[in-house]
Amino acid sequence: MEYLSEVLKILDGALKANATMASSYAGLLAEKLDTAGEREQAALVRQRLIRAPKALASAQDAASPGSVGQLPVDGESRLHTVDYSMPAPADVFLALPTGIERRVADFLNAWRHYDDLARVGAAISPRMLIYGPPGTGKTQTARWIAAELGLPLLTVRCDTLISSLLGQTSKNLRRVFEYAQSRPAVLFLDEVDALASARGNERDVGELQRVVVSLLQNIDALEENTVLIAATNHDPLLDSAVWRRFAFQLPMPLPDAALREVLWRKHLGKFGTPGLDYAGLTTRSAGVTGALIEQVSLDAKRHAVLAHQAAVDEAETHRRLALAMALMQSKQLSSVDDEVRWLRQWDARRFSVRELARLYGVTTRKINNIIKEPKDDATQGEIE
Ligand SMILES: Nc1ncnc2c1ncn2[C@@H]1O[C@H](COP(=O)(O)OP(=O)(O)OP(=O)(O)O)[C@@H](O)[C@H]1O
Ligand SMILES: [Mg+2]
Repeated sequence: MEYLSEVLKILDGALKANATMASSYAGLLAEKLDTAGEREQAALVRQRLIRAPKALASAQDAASPGSVGQLPVDGESRLHTVDYSMPAPADVFLALPTGIERRVADFLNAWRHYDDLARVGAAISPRMLIYGPPGTGKTQTARWIAAELGLPLLTVRCDTLISSLLGQTSKNLRRVFEYAQSRPAVLFLDEVDALASARGNERDVGELQRVVVSLLQNIDALEENTVLIAATNHDPLLDSAVWRRFAFQLPMPLPDAALREVLWRKHLGKFGTPGLDYAGLTTRSAGVTGALIEQVSLDAKRHAVLAHQAAVDEAETHRRLALAMALMQSKQLSSVDDEVRWLRQWDARRFSVRELARLYGVTTRKINNIIKEPKDDATQGEIE
């Protein structure tokens, strides 16, 4: 039977007297019927929903975007442990290397064709663990997947789930998973290492092991076709038992040259003229994350707007990239002199004396003096 998983969920909701669950899965069923061209059947389902008793209608309201009344809260702080959002495809830009993109497509198909695959015993649970350095687009990928599937994204910041009260963390986890089960959604455990690596720190070891065990139990109890995504930038800390729960494992690399160029073009947008030296920016930004390219682009655009220019200044963009990279390498550039020396070392051709004088609004003589001054420790021996 087609749509069996939705029908079963509606049945589950009815049997558990969980109106939110029954009505939101009925909504999903209507959408799927619509997409499949079964408009009359979809209309019949929707009519039933409209005619639902008042109690059901208010449960439906609670399940709609923007309503946080029903979101699970931490028993101690009363803060929400889940963020509800409904990312729209047009609002989420994601650029991935082709190999990674293919894996994400496989993941989407595992969910979209779950029932077909299950019929022949080849179903695979749509559960993905994304790992890689900070700023490489892990959270963005989760948002993108939710947008593609047209499902709400339930983001759990795992560090906020950890309660100082003994036993409360496991309770928080259970509430989050129960909430996610009651509606079609993507459950996203962000920074999952906070939970899954908790064994190592100074807290009560027994309690923390219980948290890991409780995480595993909750995942195991999850309906097989619920979309679950977890992200971490501390993958060595993750328990191997956690890894095993995720059929899809997605390493998020630093962007390669092709991807960096895409990111520069996207983030500079209409502030990048056709003649802009994207190749130079791409080469020079080897080893940086997508987040850094976005940040430098924003800086350069801001500078252009304040200078009443319609496009970014190429040298200024390179300057900001160079300074951001210095920071990335923990180089302290505390004065203009330090910056000038760093830029000279970084790319003496681009940052000629004349160009530096223009960028810093000083005379070429001043720049020459800075360059000739004895070098400080940070850049000792590196300039010439
Ligand atoms: N591959 C990418 N495609 C599109 N945008 C990207 C990409 N990588 C990074 N970004 C941009 O960088 C910013 C940070 O990305 P994101 O929050 O997804 O990183 P993250 O891997 O989750 O980092 P963290 O580990 O710090 O949480 C976002 O604003 C996003 O737009
Ligand atoms: Mg993130």
